[in-house]
Amino acid sequence: SVPCLASPDDFLQCLREKIPSELVYTQSSSSFAGVLVSSIRSARFLTNTTVRPLCVVTPTDASHVQAAVLCGRTQGVRLRVRSGGHDYEGLSYRSARPEVFGVVDLTNLRAVSVNQSETTAWVDSGATIGELYYTIAKDNSQLAFPAGLCPTIGVGGHFSGGAIGMMMRKYGLAVDNVLDAKFVTANGDLLDRAGMGEDLFWAIRGGGGGSFGIVLSWKVQLVQVPPMVTMFNIVKTLDQGAVDIVTRWQDVGPSLPNDLTIRVIVQGQQALFQALYLGTCSSLVATMGDQFPELAMTSADCQSMTWLQSIAFISFWNRDTPVEALLSRTTSLSTYSKSKSDYVQNAISKGVWKDIFSWFTMNGAGLVILEPHGGFMGSVPTDATPYPHRSGVLYNVQYMVFWQGDGGTAANTWLGNFYDFMGPYVSKNPRQAYVNYRDLGIGQNVVVDDVTTFDGGKVWGEQYFASNFQRLASVKAAVDPTDYFRNEQSIPPLVQGR
Ligand code: FDA
Repeated sequence: SVPCLASPDDFLQCLREKIPSELVYTQSSSSFAGVLVSSIRSARFLTNTTVRPLCVVTPTDASHVQAAVLCGRTQGVRLRVRSGGHDYEGLSYRSARPEVFGVVDLTNLRAVSVNQSETTAWVDSGATIGELYYTIAKDNSQLAFPAGLCPTIGVGGHFSGGAIGMMMRKYGLAVDNVLDAKFVTANGDLLDRAGMGEDLFWAIRGGGGGSFGIVLSWKVQLVQVPPMVTMFNIVKTLDQGAVDIVTRWQDVGPSLPNDLTIRVIVQGQQALFQALYLGTCSSLVATMGDQFPELAMTSADCQSMTWLQSIAFISFWNRDTPVEALLSRTTSLSTYSKSKSDYVQNAISKGVWKDIFSWFTMNGAGLVILEPHGGFMGSVPTDATPYPHRSGVLYNVQYMVFWQGDGGTAANTWLGNFYDFMGPYVSKNPRQAYVNYRDLGIGQNVVVDDVTTFDGGKVWGEQYFASNFQRLASVKAAVDPTDYFRNEQSIPPLVQGR
């Protein structure tokens, strides 16, 4: 187990002995700040009071990751692992509480290797999803992978939480398509699926990052898309019937053919309906006329392109952006943001939607993104993976606020009040949330005798994982009983008698 007293100097010394020194950045190194900031997405976690790591280790080989874990274990220093750094609460590189810890940053471990004949790929956790998509599809426009939208998201954290996206209604989450993985345990062992066993393999496919160990790479099943897909972006203002159309979308969006995903972004006094269709414009127009005439979509709304171009289009809002832009790892730190999430199982009435739109006229108002489930998602049993939001879920809601500079009071007040207002209309007992939209506001771990308590974790854990939380905690007890890998929302070990 981790010795009670951390020995930071001995830890750094151990790292220097086992890992090339140019891969270890300590706080005194002139490059430390640059390396730490390199993938930080939210300026909220780069303030003078941010609890920063002792060091950032940037392994170029699996053996360096194993060595870092062994040094941490023997010297009593915990590790946090960072892939793309997009955690909404910054838990991959900062601690919300005072703590001595090191960061293993996987940015150098980012190979993507595609097996065209098997239609599979191995992708390292340090790759971004932009790199993954580009490498899969650049030479074969009919191969793709179902995961999220922002190209700079890291594969490691993203897959660890499930990964929802525009093709999940047809192909499920990223983790529904994971075949194998390479994983470093809290004992420093390197295991594949056969070595780790089915319980741990189940847990790492959606149980959230940072709890069980470090996933180095993932073998994924690629999926087929047509050479050209069709997109549309249709905006409806209140005057153009946004309330009626969003109300109707709640029933239509989750029951459309699996090839068609229409998500909705509500901001200000309008709703944007954004669609990806794995087919041609003419058949999309026919389907829309038949199933969702309220949106009045026509062929003039169609934008035809390859699937890879559709990813660039939806990411950069510009058809002319070259797909190579998906390879950029540069993120902007200028904005501060905070998110919360919900799941909706019963369509919200038109009257309530009228009230919801009035929230978007208030000071500090942000936006909401509605991601339709249904289709393939509804056919997956609740316990097939840790992601429990399957059958019966109409859509996921993500609430986001943004602000500039240190303040953010109006934005955060709006977010809290709006979230409270939504309580009666969303999933309840417990209210549900998506682990990849991490929110420390729904609960934080309690640590007793140096181990995270199960009961404390349950508060937030059942919101993310529902009935799967207990199995996750049992897996944690089996693979990391002393709770070496832990953070403010890591899975607690379910230890008998505690
Ligand atoms: P980061 O490196 O910060 O890690 C996140 C968590 O996982 C941390 O706890 C970390 O310790 C742990 N972790 C990281 N690598 C690990 C590894 N190799 N092994 C074990 N644990 C690891 N989500 C979604 O489903 N669909 C979407 O479309 C989007 N869109 C989106 C856009 C933007 C702009 C942001 C900022 C975020 C999203 N997300 C999302 C949420 C995203 O999926 C989530 O933040 C991921 O955890 C980010 O993964 P990173 O590797 O970038 O994060």
